[in-house]
Amino acid sequence: MKDVVRRNFDASVDAYTTYERRTNRFTSLARLLAAEMGARTDGGLGTVLDAGAGTGVSTRVFTETAADTIALDISRAMLREIDSTARLQADFDHLPLSGQSVDGVAFTASLFLVPDPAAAVREAARVLRPNGVVGAVAPLGWFYPDGTDVFEQFERASRSPADTSALEGALAGEFSTTTGTWQFSTTAENIRLFHAIPAMAARLYPKLETERRVRHASELLSALDGTFEQRWRWIVGVPE
Ligand SMILES: C[S@@+](CC[C@H](N)C(=O)[O-])C[C@H]1O[C@@H](n2cnc3c(N)ncnc32)[C@H](O)[C@@H]1O
Repeated sequence: MKDVVRRNFDASVDAYTTYERRTNRFTSLARLLAAEMGARTDGGLGTVLDAGAGTGVSTRVFTETAADTIALDISRAMLREIDSTARLQADFDHLPLSGQSVDGVAFTASLFLVPDPAAAVREAARVLRPNGVVGAVAPLGWFYPDGTDVFEQFERASRSPADTSALEGALAGEFSTTTGTWQFSTTAENIRLFHAIPAMAARLYPKLETERRVRHASELLSALDGTFEQRWRWIVGVPE
């Protein structure tokens, strides 16, 4: 499973960058998450582990708001886009960091991609200092103006390895958590652009190879028109 996720993101650098340039979505999510995490620390964020840093969108945000940032990702190709900070190619389940060595762990749109979020959360708890803070943001989906899920015909399991409630449960098992939802208005064109990212098209068509899955997603979404709402769940936790 992890190898598949890594390969999917290795193939996603250009399309991911195109989507972010157009929408700034991941920048917005990281800014909102950094604010929620910062509000739960005394004296600001110290060293933050940007867990699932990707091409560095969230890293740039945490570099602005934290004293120090470490970018970690399983995908070497995504990570190669970052040159401004310490980088680690590693898996959330085996963080190459000492216990109690960071003040924050931020999973901006990344924790939902793991098959066992509880294992990743235990690792986050291990590396966090006692007054640290953990944050995660995960997708709830895309909705028509009447509230219908755009992808309701797809099985929940085929949309991402972990359901958002599994992340909430895993984080609540280790931390005292606060949660909420962020909504963004978006367009059909942006939904198409999002699913032109091979790693995102894989959430709809996990068994198809890269080109075919992107083509299928493009065909599926070709008739989509109008304005939609994209919803994200956020969870912030502090040690109990
Ligand atoms: C949607 S991207 C988000 C990237 C970044 N946080 C941003 O704001 O643009 C999710 C990232 O999580 C990484 N990822 C997924 N599973 C991982 C794992 N088990 N360990 C480390 N990184 C992982 C992927 O390679 C991908 O780069």
